[in-house]
Amino acid sequence: MTNTQAEQAAAARRAEEGTAVEAGSKATERFTASGKLAKLEVPKERVSLLAGAAIKAINDIAVEHQVTYEEYNALKAWLIKVGTDGEWPLFLDVWLEHTIEDVNSKDRPGAASTIEGPYYVPGAPVLQTPATLEMREDEEGTPFLLKGRFTDTAGNPIQDAQVEIWHADAAGYYSQYAPGLPEWLFRATVKADENGYFEINTKRPAPYQIPTDGACGQLIAAAGWHAWRPAHIHIKVSAPGYQLVTQQLYFPGDPHNEDDIASAVKPELMLEPKPRADGGEGEEAVYDYVLAKEGEHK
Ligand code: DHB
Ligand code: FE
Repeated sequence: MTNTQAEQAAAARRAEEGTAVEAGSKATERFTASGKLAKLEVPKERVSLLAGAAIKAINDIAVEHQVTYEEYNALKAWLIKVGTDGEWPLFLDVWLEHTIEDVNSKDRPGAASTIEGPYYVPGAPVLQTPATLEMREDEEGTPFLLKGRFTDTAGNPIQDAQVEIWHADAAGYYSQYAPGLPEWLFRATVKADENGYFEINTKRPAPYQIPTDGACGQLIAAAGWHAWRPAHIHIKVSAPGYQLVTQQLYFPGDPHNEDDIASAVKPELMLEPKPRADGGEGEEAVYDYVLAKEGEHK
């Protein structure tokens, strides 16, 4: 087996094992505890506008497609199950976040961005570049070195920049969302050097199926869709005085780059992996970051 085949087989195994309720309820718990809720203040006018528009859109669908009572009851049962499975974060991050992200990043110059997804955990261990992410002994997967440099939109190096990185293992599991993994497996905050350079040693993550045994999986099966996201590395880049960018990086040739269930792939986010320049095992890729200053816009 090639490594990619091994990784895909491991991901398929994982999908069969079923982790929806585990991953879903963790994602729900963490979102609820994240402090994002404490700061929420949406003015009455916006609530009325947005909730009104959403309700109208659904009613228009019911008329356009002549929705039956059987279909209406199936919808009700399914919405209840999304909640009991804890899958609202998954559902929203797969089928809506990409649009919210586009709307909110369109005026920001510099590095391309995409969705955060449900599995970010703040406060990962801080490592200085050149960094190696936490792994188990005999960790499976192709060694992968990600390196790059931070500059501002005028091309000047940025000081005190950092890369928060998190990704699945070679079986498609995320630490803290699947049982039995070390807490900070494939998660870290990596500090760039004074010239803005960083190097991160890790392993290539596997393509990933969103959990198939919960409400989202039920919808996917009932509609005859697939649950795959292409292999990806999640990143947040930031520096004091600059706008934070949340993104993911992808690998060319992944069969799901063109039909990502979460619609989060962009050409600017594609890596160009090459054999390692130092002759070491595995691959490396360079990805440089241009950050926009706070308040800077296109
Ligand atoms: C989901 C998982 C991801 O890793 C991601 O990047 C986006 C969505 C999900 O399971 O919903
Ligand atoms: Fe992900």
